[in-house]
Amino acid sequence: MRNPIIVALDVPDAATALRLAERLTPVVGAFKIGKELFTAAGPEIVRQFRAAGASVFLDLKFHDIPNTVAKAVETATRLDVQMITLHASGGRAMMAAAEKAAQETAKLLGRPAPLVLGVTVLTSMDAADLVEIGVNVSPAAQVERLAQLAVHSGLRGLVCSPQELIVLRKIFPSQTQLVTPGIRPADSEKGDQKRTLTPREAMDAGASWLVIGRPITAATDPRAAAEKILATL
Ligand code: C5P
Repeated sequence: MRNPIIVALDVPDAATALRLAERLTPVVGAFKIGKELFTAAGPEIVRQFRAAGASVFLDLKFHDIPNTVAKAVETATRLDVQMITLHASGGRAMMAAAEKAAQETAKLLGRPAPLVLGVTVLTSMDAADLVEIGVNVSPAAQVERLAQLAVHSGLRGLVCSPQELIVLRKIFPSQTQLVTPGIRPADSEKGDQKRTLTPREAMDAGASWLVIGRPITAATDPRAAAEKILATL
């Protein structure tokens, strides 16, 4: 089995990220570089991770007109990242253009296409927030609607919270990759994550990949924390 742990590197600078990666690379499957680290350290940090042989999930959640998103996805594919995110609410044409750009660029370079993942409804939004932006259905219904649209637009994967995982895995077959944050080992602090699953529970519920941040990165010994999680899988 491949290692499904993706470590969220929610850190402010390259030095901190590289220090963590050095210790964690042998025991995790990939690293998530998000808006904070990418804004601070740019594409160079991605190149450094790739040069060290680590897989990269570039979590920039693109949302723009189809041409702009396709060009950004093409550039990310050239950087040789393994996963990219975009907002499914950007619509069918945007998602289809992104998937096409990933496939065509990868083909040109002779590599596997990065997984383009759709983000549905931000878990920070509740029903009242959705009403304010003109969405008059429950968050759960909107998640399902956008997930269907993403898959019908050609995306091969979705980001989903633990509580969405169970519903989405019933709808989509196992080749649809479900990437799940909000993971907390049984013995760890929940922090600001309200509805969590343990790594084992999330895998049993159908997750393909687990995004885990603080339970690993804030541990006194991050490598031991990752190894302990891995042992439960
Ligand atoms: O530290 P923690 O394990 O909570 O980190 C989880 C990561 O997943 C963070 O990078 C966070 O931004 C991201 N995420 C999340 N909940 C979502 C979507 C993404 O926690 N619904």
